[in-house]
Formats: sequence, C-alpha cells, structure tokens
Amino acid sequence: MDTAEIRRRFTSHFATNATVGDHAVVPSASLLLDDPNLLFVNAGMVPFKPYFLGQETAPYDRATSIQKCVRTLDIEEVGKTTRHGTFFEMCGNFSFGDYFKEGAITLAWELITKSVADGGFGLDESVLYPSVYEDDPEAVALWRRITGLPDDRIVRLGKSENYWSMGVPGPGGPCSEILIDRGPAYGADRDWDAGDRYLEFWNLVFMQDELSAVRSKSDFDIAGSLPAKNIDTGMGLERVAYLLQGKDNMYEIDVVFPVIEKAQELTGRRYGADPADDVRFRVVADHVRSSLMLINDGVTPGNEARGYVLRRLLRRAVRSMRLLGYEDPSLPELLPVSRDKMAEGYPELLAGWDRISRVAFAEEEAFRKTLQAGTQIFDLAAGEVKGSGGTALSGAKAFALHDTYGFPIDLTLEMASEAGLTVDEPGFRGLMAEQRERAKADARAKKGQHADTSVYRAVLDAHGPTEWLAYETLQTESRPLALLAAGARVPVLAAGDVGEIVLDRTPFYAESGGQAADAGIIEFDGGRLEVLDVQRPVKGLVVHQVRVVDGELTAEAPTLHAQVDPAWRTGARQAHSGTHVVHAALREVLGPTALQSGSYNRPGYLRLDFGWTTGLTPAQVRDIEQVSNEALRADLPVGWQYMTLAEAKEWGALALFGETYDNTKVRVVEIGGPWSRELCGGTHVDHASQIGTVVVTGEASVGSGNRRIEAFTGVEGFAYLARERDVVNELTTLLKAQPDDLVGRVGDLVERLRSAEKELERARLAQLLAGTAELAAQAQDIGGVALVAVRAPGASGGDVRTLALDVRGRLDPSQPAAVVVIGDGGGKPSVVAAVNDAGRARGLSANALVRAVGPHVGGKGGGKDDVAQGGGTDVGGIDAALAAVPAEIASVLAAG
Ligand code: ALA
Repeated sequence: MDTAEIRRRFTSHFATNATVGDHAVVPSASLLLDDPNLLFVNAGMVPFKPYFLGQETAPYDRATSIQKCVRTLDIEEVGKTTRHGTFFEMCGNFSFGDYFKEGAITLAWELITKSVADGGFGLDESVLYPSVYEDDPEAVALWRRITGLPDDRIVRLGKSENYWSMGVPGPGGPCSEILIDRGPAYGADRDWDAGDRYLEFWNLVFMQDELSAVRSKSDFDIAGSLPAKNIDTGMGLERVAYLLQGKDNMYEIDVVFPVIEKAQELTGRRYGADPADDVRFRVVADHVRSSLMLINDGVTPGNEARGYVLRRLLRRAVRSMRLLGYEDPSLPELLPVSRDKMAEGYPELLAGWDRISRVAFAEEEAFRKTLQAGTQIFDLAAGEVKGSGGTALSGAKAFALHDTYGFPIDLTLEMASEAGLTVDEPGFRGLMAEQRERAKADARAKKGQHADTSVYRAVLDAHGPTEWLAYETLQTESRPLALLAAGARVPVLAAGDVGEIVLDRTPFYAESGGQAADAGIIEFDGGRLEVLDVQRPVKGLVVHQVRVVDGELTAEAPTLHAQVDPAWRTGARQAHSGTHVVHAALREVLGPTALQSGSYNRPGYLRLDFGWTTGLTPAQVRDIEQVSNEALRADLPVGWQYMTLAEAKEWGALALFGETYDNTKVRVVEIGGPWSRELCGGTHVDHASQIGTVVVTGEASVGSGNRRIEAFTGVEGFAYLARERDVVNELTTLLKAQPDDLVGRVGDLVERLRSAEKELERARLAQLLAGTAELAAQAQDIGGVALVAVRAPGASGGDVRTLALDVRGRLDPSQPAAVVVIGDGGGKPSVVAAVNDAGRARGLSANALVRAVGPHVGGKGGGKDDVAQGGGTDVGGIDAALAAVPAEIASVLAAG
C-alpha cells in the first residue's frame, strides 16, 4: 500500500466516524510554529497545544491531521539505526475533552486490524502488542475488553516508555503504544527495548496533566490536571508504510527510496553492498527530504538555530555524496526527485520550487567553496605537523577547521588519515563541549527573558480579553484591571515607577506583525503615565508598560483616559502600509519568488527581509523605489476585510512563513486590490498617497539566502532627502562646482590623489635606495665573504627588506656575500638578512643570521636561507646585534 493510500485511509477513518463522531480534518501546520521552546514542530499535537492547555477554546471537539514534523536531536544517528529520521509525518486523531481512553483504543485497533479490502491496514492481531503505563490498570482493562487479547500480550512499562510529554513544559499524560513483533530475526523474545523487534508505530496519549518542568523522560513535575481529559495520538506514517510495503526501514518506502536510487545511479555504487555506504545512502535520502521540507516552510541556511540545522542537513547530504564518490553538485540531481515524491501531499513544493532550489543550490555551492578553502588550510596544517616531526593534528586545529571553515570532523579525520596523521579527537571534543556549554548558557539567558506568563493568564481568566480598539479610535475611557511590577501584581505605582497596567479596553496597538507598539499617555485623576511599550504576553490580553510621570496610581482608580499619540500613529500607519508597498514593488521588480521573510516598522522607518540569494543591482533598488512611489502617486486605495484562511489563499493573499493564524478568520489588507494582498493585523493608511514618500536607503545581506531592504517613509523620507541635499550643498561650496559636476570633480580628485601618492612612494623609495651603492662599496671582508651589516635609521618592515635585497644585488655575485640590515622605524627593530648563492654555497644562511642576531634586540624571526626577517622589541640592542654579525659569519666559515 503506497504512502498516499495510507494517508487517505487514515484521514477518512476519522473524518467520518460512526463510533465517536466525525473529526474535523485539519491541514498540516507549518514546521515553524511560534513556540519559544520548540525549534520545529515535532509532533502532531503541537498546533493544538493551546487547546489542550485550555488557553484557547478549540473550534471543534475532535480533529485529525497529518502533520509534518522534524526532530533533530540525533542527526548523527540517522542512517546508522533504521529508526531515526529527521523529517517524518505524524498521523493523529485528537479529542479535546470529548472521547478518552476507550474511544482512542477502539478507533486505533479498528483501523489497524480491519482488512485491507474493508479500508483498514489489515495487520495480523497475533503480532500486535499494546503497551500501557504501569500505573494505568484502566488502560489494561480496556485493551483486554476491546481487543480480546490475553493479559500477557499487554506490556506494562515505566515512565520513560509510557508517559508522554513534549520534553518541555506543556501538556502530557500516560500513554499506550502499539508494538508490532517483527520476528526473532530482529531481537530476543519479549525484549521490549531491543527497538527493532517490537516496533512501536502508534502512540495513544491520554492527555490529562500539565507539566511545569521536564528534566528527562522519567523525571518531571506535574503542576496539575488539564482543564479537560484529551486524546492525542501519533501514528508514524513512515513506519506504517514500511510495514505495509514489506520493507525493512523508512528509507526504503515509496516516497523516500527514489532518492537512494538516484544516488546509486550517480555514484555507481549499490545500496546493500557495503554497510558504510548504506549509512551514507540513508543520510542522503533523509537529509535531502528534510531540507526540501524545511526550505519549503521558509527556513534558510544560517549559523543559528533553525538555519543551522538546515545547513547541517544540506552539508551532510552533500558530504555523504562525496564519500560515495560523487564530486559534482548533487542537489540539482537529488532534490527534484524528492520534490516529485513529496508533491502529492504538499503541492506547494511545485509552486515554490524556484525559491527552494535557489536556496538549496546556493548552499551547496557555498559548501563546495568551503571544502576548497578548508582543504588548503588543512594541507597547510598537516604540512606543519609533519615538518615538525609530529604525527597528530591538534584538537585546536580540528576545532578551528570545524568552527571557522565549517569542516565536519569526519572530513578532518578522513583527510588526516589519508595524510598519514591522526587527530587529537578528545581535544577536539573537549573544545566542542566547551562551545556547546557556551551556547547552552546563551540559550538559558535568552529563555530567562520570556517572563513567566502565569500572572497574565490569571488576569485574563479573571477579566476576559481586553477590548481592543486600536482600529477604531485613538482614545478610550478605561478602567484599570491590574497593576504589575517585576512580574507580580502590585496595589500602587508611585511617581517615577516603571510598571505595567492592564485596562478593560485600550486604543493602543500592541507590537505584532512587525509593527512597533504605539506610544502615548494614560491620564488619571491626579496623574499621568507615559506608555513605553505595549505587548500581548498572552493571547487576548494587552499589557501597557508605563512610567508614572506624576501622581500615584492605585489599582482602584475609577477611570483613566488612554490616549495614543496621534502623530506617532500617523507615522506608524505610513510605515506599515509602506512596508506592504515595498513588498509588492519588490515582487514586481524581482518576480513573485521574492518573498518577505520578516519585517519591522515604526513611524518613519521600515525594513523588510526577503529570501533572495544575490545582491540587488543599484538599478533594481531604484526600480523598487520607483514602483513604490508610483503606487503612492496613483493613490491606490487601502482596505481590509476578514475571511477564512482558505478564502485568503484563494485571493492570493501572502501569508508569512512561520506565523500562526487563527482557524477562524484572518484579516487581509489590500492596497490597490490584487496589487498587494497580505494577511496582516497592522494599522494602515486609507490611501497610498498618505504614505507621503518611500525613500529606499539601502539593501544588504542578512545571512545566507536573505536580503534586507530599508526605507524611510513620510516626513522622515523627506528629511533624509533634505540631509542628502545639505551634503551636496556643502560639497558644491567646498569644491566650487555645480551639483551635476560633483561626481566628475571628486573622481578627478581621487585620481590625482592616487597618482600623487604613487609619485610620493617612488620618491621615497629612490631616497631610501640612494645610498645603497655606497653601502655595497663599504662591504667588509670576513674570510672571503663580503659583508654589509648596517642600521637603516627610520626604516621598518618592507623598506628594510627592499634595502637589504638591493644591497645584495649590488654585490659581486661570484663572491660569497651576506647583508644584514636593521631598521629602527616606529621605535622597533626590523631585521632582514640576505645571503647570495655563493654565500649559501659556503654554508651561510640568512635564517641562521636572523636567529643569531635576534636575541640582541629582544626579538625572534626566521625564514629561508636566502632571505629571512624578524622583529624585536629593543632598539637599544641594534648596534650590538650588528657587531655580532662578523663573528657569527666567521664561526660558520670555521665550522665549514
Ligand atoms: N504526541 C504523541 C507523540 O508524539 C502522540 O508520540
């Protein structure tokens, strides 16, 4: 049974269900949901978390979904075991306070044991083993009654197996897993941990607890019961697929294996021939698919968090292909194969292909360059180790290769062994561990900033959501519902205090969707608050951060007057509408694949990040600005309306990757009808001309695959242009030129400056070398060697070298000669020694000379036999250093 058929059967079993009632069919959410605890959606229940926790009311009692998931905890294990995959799909059914254990067990058992002819999966009951949490006798009784299985087929396991949580604070509960016995070839009888023999493929979670801390699978704190008893199940689509397709593992199923086939074709190696190669084939198949799906959801390769995971996946795939012997760009070959297989479930892969492939191919190109650069560094390091008689590359070198050049350690290990070297792996691991610790400490520090939201939730529970009037008015008469300071309720805020206030109604816009929070004041009888920030820490509750300007505010104050600063709001509307205009203009100029990946706007200023791999030309930037301002001049109307997400999509409204949208209605803002349609909750102008102007000030890279465009709007835009005009005015005065001639004049000036500098340099060199003939003529004779050992006052570095070589060039080449010049420029000795061929034939070495005189000037250095140079710290020792040269030469001659 192919994967698509398994999906269809799963969905229809729950969509129309006579036993417990029909389930709402919910499409997969993006892999990137806004949850500070989760890098990626890693289970089918994630999008439903607020419903389980009771933070939001579910719009349905029952639901079913097939959710894309990514788990990246053990990327290194991929391919080595057959159970680890980074991307997978979880088929789930969910009950929000509706059916519980009995319903969940009945439905799952029915679907898996019903014959294939009747629409089920037709699994043989005699090899199925349900597992239950050891403290859950109710589940044991239900399994026996519903399935008729004998007691010894129901396996009791502890917390780490049969209590499920998200691994972070959130909902959880005891669970029942369904295991299938794959036979003695896969492990010992009743060895539940063996993993491969009793394969778990469906987890039924009886979601009833709220966890406040999770330290490990078996060590967590239960804060209390959830508001209702729920069901969350997860059936691994890939696992069921390989069971039903008679395959051994998830890499061999119909939607994954074609990538392995393509890799075989490209590399000429066979899957199944060599265990090491098999791991590589599986890594390729898994990582190519995961990368495809991550990029599809808007991730771009980077050095942090999600971007870093994607980068690792892509690079590991490319690297595995190289280890399989394929050195050409491999993603252009492999990615389309995965796309074609996944497009049935995710047709947007086809529409987004242009962008997806651009991002992936650019990363492979970058990695190929990395490999090139890193290989040179590696060769150098290996050469050094060998040169000094060593056999091991230090941990620090391996770490530097990894950290700076993105060189994976396995690559370093392999290249080292090819070069006959070992690598100090423990040293490397130690440095990696240190780095991980630093990263963890950073993450902890960051997490600390997420204030505990329970106090806000209590306010919300007591008073309900804030009546939010930002779209309707700039001022309200409001009642205070709660005063807070430092995360706790307080009875008063005194003059000078900074605290928070929650009102029953507010006109203030809370920061969201890239738009900065409103500024303004809140007045009360006898005092005034300045609004510093406005946030929505929990959905529905608007919280104002305020400073008490004067007076004393008590929680009992009867009424307050909340007033948004009208000038601020005008600027905010201009900037937010400006952002939409620039986005639309961007897409008009660059094409529809240019898509916003993030934005920020405040009065007068906006920035917009978008997925794009190359820098824009000045002409493109100017075009974007021009198209934007034409939209303003055309005075396009701005409007907004609510609709379902499906309607919005049909309308072509652009939704941001990674944003979560309500299942109910979304707000679509349009400018000039279809010209710009975006899902947006921001405040906007009524007509485009009210934006005033859009002045694009720059365009730059913000990490791999993303560019940022910045602009000023409204009066700020004019102010920016005025400043530029002032600069031009100053320049015209300074250069006594007309504005139109400025560029030419400055160009001339730069050119003249450049040739003057060159001239100066020539003169300086001529002066420096003027005396060299004389120096050469004064050479002393040390046992037949012509020696010039002199001080070069004021000279340093390169000049000293030039001087020494020039003098050497003037000495008779048929006679052995040595030159030592020590400059004292910059208050530091610079030593250069040069020896000619005849001198070297007599055993003299420039390197040895520099080493010999170095100690006199507190320095070190060296080089080759013909030229060597060094530095020092003590100019007071220069004369002694020079005086030591004849004796040094004499001793060499004597020894030879
Ligand atoms: N949420 C459960 C799991 O991920 C079903 O296993």
